[in-house]
Parts: sequence; C-alpha cells; structure tokens
Amino acid sequence: MKKVSELYAGKAKTVFTTEDDDKLILEFRNDTSAFDGEKMEQLDRKGMVNNRFNAFVMQKLEEAGIPVHFDSLLNDNEVVVKRLDMIPVECVVRNFAAGSLCRRLGTEEGLELNPPVFEFFLKDDALHDPMINESHIDTFGWASDAEVGRMKELSLQVNHILSKMFSDAGMLLVDYKLEFGRFHGEIVLGDEFSPDGCRLWDADTREKLDKDRFRQGLGGVVEAYEEVARRIGVPLDD
Ligand code: TMP
Ligand code: ASP
Repeated sequence: MKKVSELYAGKAKTVFTTEDDDKLILEFRNDTSAFDGEKMEQLDRKGMVNNRFNAFVMQKLEEAGIPVHFDSLLNDNEVVVKRLDMIPVECVVRNFAAGSLCRRLGTEEGLELNPPVFEFFLKDDALHDPMINESHIDTFGWASDAEVGRMKELSLQVNHILSKMFSDAGMLLVDYKLEFGRFHGEIVLGDEFSPDGCRLWDADTREKLDKDRFRQGLGGVVEAYEEVARRIGVPLDD
C-alpha cells in the first residue's frame, strides 16, 4: 500500500490517501501535544511506540468483537486503516477521577467511579473541546440517535476488555478517549488507542504511566509508554 497525498495533519498523526478509496495510511509522529496544542514537543521513539501500541490494542479489540479501523501495520511509524467518515465527537470513559472531571466537579483524584462515567466532548481545539451532551449531538446533526447509542455501547464494551487487559498487567485504566466514524453504514472505532489518549496508573503505587507525565512535566514520558507496552506484551523490538 502506497501513500498518494496528504489529506490532513493532526497534532500527533498525519493522514494520507492511498490508491484504495477505502483505505488511508496514518503516520504516527514524535510530536506530543497537550492543552489543545499549547504545549508541543518532539519525543524520540514516541511515534513508533504509539503506532505499535495502537496496532496491538486495536487487534485485541477486534478479536473481542469490536469493529475497528485497523487494517495492517505498514512499518514502524505507519499503519493502514479503513477510511472512515469521522464523527466529530470524543467519547470519554472514566473508571477513576482525574483530569477535567476533578477540575469541573472538585472530585479528589483517584476516587473510583462505579458505574464508570461516560462523557461526550466536541472535537474542536479552538473551542478547547467543550463538553457536550446527546441533545447537542442531535440538534447540530453530528450523529443520529442510533449512532450515539452505538458509540456509547462500544465505548463501554471497550472498557470491559481493556480494563481487564491492563489490570492483568498490574495497571489501572483510569480513563480514555475514543473516536468513532462511519464505514459503509457501520459505526467503527477510529483514531488511536495509546498512552497519549488515556490515563494508566501502576495498580500498586498509582505512578502515572501516560501522557500526564508530559502534561505535568514529570519526565520519562516515552519510557513510561514503553513500560506499559512491555507489560501488556506489545512487540517493540522486532
Ligand atoms: P480529560 O480529563 O482532559 O477530560 O481527559 C479524559 C481522558 O481523555 C484522558 O485520558 C485524556 C483523553 N482525552 C484526549 O486524549 N484528548 C482530548 O481531546 C480529550 C478531551 C480527552
Ligand atoms: N490531545 C489534546 C492536546 O494535545 C489534549 C491533551 O491531551 O491534553 O492538546
């Protein structure tokens, strides 16, 4: 599969068209951003680690019955995916309080959330990804009621699969963000799943092993991503 032209450059990935109208190539770059692009740095190896991490997780999800856009790994930094018509809504699932939930509700970081909290955000950096609800999605036509239901259902199924996977490897899946799109009438998981878009803590020490290390200037960002990858069995060195 070969790249034809650049379609879109996001903060951490670049999207290319291919000769196949139904396929895209995603390039995972070393660029790392936080606070809607306000803080930006290049971190060595991050693109490779996230590309392989994402491929591994997407395949686990597919095996468990989740429709995903992953097609095949192309090389260290690139993956072939199905071309989705992306829905501009971010689905966030939270098992423990952290980040914007604590800021909005004054909740203490680390409080277990049972049942998990599910939230929608509008994907719009200029507006700082505002929180929205099903009524906004309906009124502004971002997705149908059925699509909203399906995104929520799939997000919670992903929670069962990945919470167990990370817990078996000694980690807590604190929260994560998913993005979905349409592919020939079906809702399919798109974008990526990597430590850039989720929070993972060591289950015993609650050490942060995700992008909060970058957001909070804790250092050892890619080393932490590699540690998570090693624990869940992502092949990084073949
Ligand atoms: P938040 O606490 O900032 O709302 O984020 C919740 C989780 O979702 C956290 O793991 C980070 C992830 N997330 C992104 O990766 N990108 C985003 O634009 C948003 C809103 C959340
Ligand atoms: N992914 C968003 C950004 O890069 C939000 C974040 O991770 O803080 O700005």
